[in-house]
Amino acid sequence: MKIIRSLKEMSGFSRKAHVKGKSVGFVPTMGALHEGHLSLIRKARKENDVVVVSIFVNPIQFGPKEDYGRYPRNLRRDSKLCEKSGADVIFYPGQKQMYPLNYKTYVAVYDLSNCLYGKFRPGHFKGVTTVVNKLFNIVSPDNAYFGQKDAQQAIIIKKMAEDLNIPVKIKVLPTVRERDGLAMSSRNAYLNKEERRDATVLNQALILAKNLISQGNTSSSVIIRRMKELINNKKSARIQYILIVDPNDLLPVAKIKDKVLIALSVWMGKTRLIDNIVVSL
Ligand code: PAF
Repeated sequence: MKIIRSLKEMSGFSRKAHVKGKSVGFVPTMGALHEGHLSLIRKARKENDVVVVSIFVNPIQFGPKEDYGRYPRNLRRDSKLCEKSGADVIFYPGQKQMYPLNYKTYVAVYDLSNCLYGKFRPGHFKGVTTVVNKLFNIVSPDNAYFGQKDAQQAIIIKKMAEDLNIPVKIKVLPTVRERDGLAMSSRNAYLNKEERRDATVLNQALILAKNLISQGNTSSSVIIRRMKELINNKKSARIQYILIVDPNDLLPVAKIKDKVLIALSVWMGKTRLIDNIVVSL
């Protein structure tokens, strides 16, 4: 497996693969890889001739008081995991290469970016769409892989690719969970023992919502109230939002008639965790 740091070398590598008629599968990450990322890499391996994983902790998607500085970075560990899961290349650009001093261009997907998670992290999705757009331009993938855990991110990136005519297929794979149901996330590493134990309540609340819907409950406010009651029982949990929305436009749904995305964000101590489930009536 190769580690490419230069943007030029990365584009050249993909160009050569395409000239040889090879397909390029791409998994963008910020490193701190876990089983969720590895499931994306393995799927990319199955579906493409060449697999590229990018590792870049993208400064512009973090707010000023967020965890950019302490975000876990361990290239040696990540590269072993990438190699084991079938990656051919790690693209590992430097911050100055991605954002030189005179950097001025940003990509924003309107409406979808300032609700749910975006409402509480202003500028976050603009940072995500900007870097993913740049990475798509450099790597030129045929297929790109994202996790359902970041449902809003996947919806926004799909919309960006569609609106900007980017010739890439966006594939969204199921959330990978720990045995007790906690969605895998690089930020789970921040949790202390008690927070980690209490954090299972996120998935439990989503399952409760799914069960309530399958029993015929269609009122979002009733379902959200029941979820809140369950989560508020945990000492370390503080709910940021629980929303039931249409998965196409992310607008709140009052009465459930069709497919809905139930998304939540909960502070466990000083760590914000998100999770979601898609439920069809
Ligand atoms: O999901 C992530 O890890 C990041 O938001 C992404 C897509 C790699 C962009 O920095």
